[in-house]
Amino acid sequence: MEFYKHGLGPEVVRAIEGVVASPFLTSGPVGKQVETQLADFFEVDHGLLVNSWTNGAVATLLALGIGPGDEVIVPAMTFIATANVVELVGAKPVFVDVDPESLLIDVGQMARAVSDRTRAVIPVHLYGQMVDMAAVGAALAHRPGIAVIEDAAHCFEGSRDGYRPGQKSDAAIFSFYATKNVTCGEGGAIVTRRADLAEAIRKTRLHGMSAGAADRFSKGQYRHWDMEALGVKANLPDVLAAMLPNQIDTILERLPRRQAIADKYRQVFEGTGVSVPRRVTGCVSAEHIFPIHVDPALRDSLLLALGDAQIGATVNYRSVPTLTYYSRKYGYQPEDFPISWAWGQGTLTLPLFPSLTDEQQDHVARTVLSHVCSTANSHA
Ligand SMILES: Cc1ncc(COP(=O)(O)O)c(C=O)c1O
Repeated sequence: MEFYKHGLGPEVVRAIEGVVASPFLTSGPVGKQVETQLADFFEVDHGLLVNSWTNGAVATLLALGIGPGDEVIVPAMTFIATANVVELVGAKPVFVDVDPESLLIDVGQMARAVSDRTRAVIPVHLYGQMVDMAAVGAALAHRPGIAVIEDAAHCFEGSRDGYRPGQKSDAAIFSFYATKNVTCGEGGAIVTRRADLAEAIRKTRLHGMSAGAADRFSKGQYRHWDMEALGVKANLPDVLAAMLPNQIDTILERLPRRQAIADKYRQVFEGTGVSVPRRVTGCVSAEHIFPIHVDPALRDSLLLALGDAQIGATVNYRSVPTLTYYSRKYGYQPEDFPISWAWGQGTLTLPLFPSLTDEQQDHVARTVLSHVCSTANSHA
């Protein structure tokens, strides 16, 4: 069984055909409509499509003028892209550890890591649960110049205490990568309440040009463009944007099935040697992926056992500062971020997608438990 299976149907094929039949393949009218749809969904003024979370984050950091000499605070337990984008603009990622139970950034440690050079923080809504954005805002209230950028790659349909990504920050960035809850293969989006930031990102996502291809030819006549600031090539073509409207319209309908699968995993693993991140009160998780944690001595053999049983499993994630690039460059040791390290040594992620059947899920749970129990017994 696959680790992830998308649920895209013929409506997506028809939408792509519509774009192919039109003269415009790259960013154009379809993307503009999706941007309005995103702004409406998140109840913010601005939605901006990009061709990945990563390029969208680079465009956002460039738009904020963040670069060499600046620091950006990121959690140690996340996907590498969260830190890499900071490196890519020449700034320094400053890692902080996560809460031992929720695995979300430790807001107290984040506040203590703020220095004169801090220009932004990137809290990550890991696995689908939102960070307490009200607490992040309160912790940084005395430093209004520090931008808050949410890594919402895992959290399209999640919320916390009734608010959604983008509603309590400078910007929230989503990923539409192949395995994400909303996907177009490769893609992403930024939502923001700030008109000035949206305006700046519109340029930094397209080389820094003052007008996109569609706008250069609007009203039937060519308009000259200028380049005021350096940007990247991060625009999403309409041929991919066309895959999104139906998914966004129906995303909340698919959430109950994700929740049911996650609930069942939680139930069967309760009281076993398998632990899972704590559910945070007030959070509606997007249930993007289902990570578990086992005795680190068993993790890799469990991955093999799942592979032998034809079950797709991955690792999300190992502690980012201990990966070779970051430990070489900054000298980080595992014990610098002990919670992230411990989680990363014992975690693996099980299949979770809406069309996963009960039988398939039972097979996954049985395989995990029989490996964990039999190996634990043989060690006893
Ligand atoms: C937490 C997190 N941030 C960022 C990214 C990067 O997203 P993309 O592949 O769209 O650049 C991912 C992708 O998996 C992710 O899981």
